[in-house]
Amino acid sequence: MAQQALSLLFFFIFPLTFTVILVSTANSNVYVQCSELNFTSTTPYESNLNSLFTSLAESASVYNFNKFQISQQNDDTVYGLFQCRRDITSPNCKDCVANAINQLKTTCPISTGGQIQLEACFMKYDNKAFFGAQGKTEACKRCGPSIGYNSDVLNRIDGALANLVGGNGQYFRSGEFGNIRGVAQCVQDLSLSDCEDCLSEASRRLRSECETSAEGDMYLGKCYIRYAADQGN
Ligand SMILES: *[C@@H]1O[C@H](CO)[C@@H](O)[C@H](O)[C@H]1NC(C)=O
Repeated sequence: MAQQALSLLFFFIFPLTFTVILVSTANSNVYVQCSELNFTSTTPYESNLNSLFTSLAESASVYNFNKFQISQQNDDTVYGLFQCRRDITSPNCKDCVANAINQLKTTCPISTGGQIQLEACFMKYDNKAFFGAQGKTEACKRCGPSIGYNSDVLNRIDGALANLVGGNGQYFRSGEFGNIRGVAQCVQDLSLSDCEDCLSEASRRLRSECETSAEGDMYLGKCYIRYAADQGN
C-alpha cells in the first residue's frame, strides 16, 4: 500500500507538479526594452512590423529559432528574430512567443525596436540590421540571497560557470556541476565563437556582481548564463 502511494507520487503527482510549475513560469517576464525612436502609425513600417510579428508567431510552432527581414521599400525594413529555450516543447515555444509579441505590443506600441526576454523565450526586432552582431550590453541581472563567504561553494560555482562557458559547442548548455545547477544560451544568429565570447563576459559579470549569491542570472543582449546552488550543500 505504501509502495503504491509512493509510485503514485513519483509517476503522477511529481511530474504533474513539475509541469504546472514549468508552464506557469515559462511566460513570466524577465525584462522588456523599447527603443527611444518611434514610428508613425499607418506607415509601411507599421505594416511590415505587423507582418514580422505574424511570421515570428507562425514560425514558433515549428522552429525554436528563426529570423526574418521584412521590407517593401528599403527604408521601411524591419528585422526580427525569436528564440525559445532549447529544452521546452514546441507548443510551449509557440505559446511563449505569442505572449512575447503581446507584451511587446503593449509595452512598446510605437517603438521602432524592442526586445523581450520571458523565462522560456527571447524576441528582438529593430529597423537596423542586427543579425549576427555581438550583444554584450547588460540587459538584466538578478542576484539571489548571499550565502556568505563559503569558499567551497564559491569554487563550485566558478567550476559550474566555467563548464557552461567552455561548454559543449552548442548554443544551449545546461547541467548540474557539483550540486550547482546551471543553464546558458546564446541567440543562434551568433557564431559559436561569439557565443563563447558572450558567455564568458556574462559569467565574469555574474561573478563580480552577484559575488556570494546562492543563485544568479545575467542576461546580456545576445546570451545569458544562470546558476543556482542546491541549498544544504
Ligand atoms: C516615443 O514615444 C514615447 C511614448 O509616447 C515618448 O515617451 C518618447 O519620448 C518618444 N521618443 C521620441 C524620440 O520622440
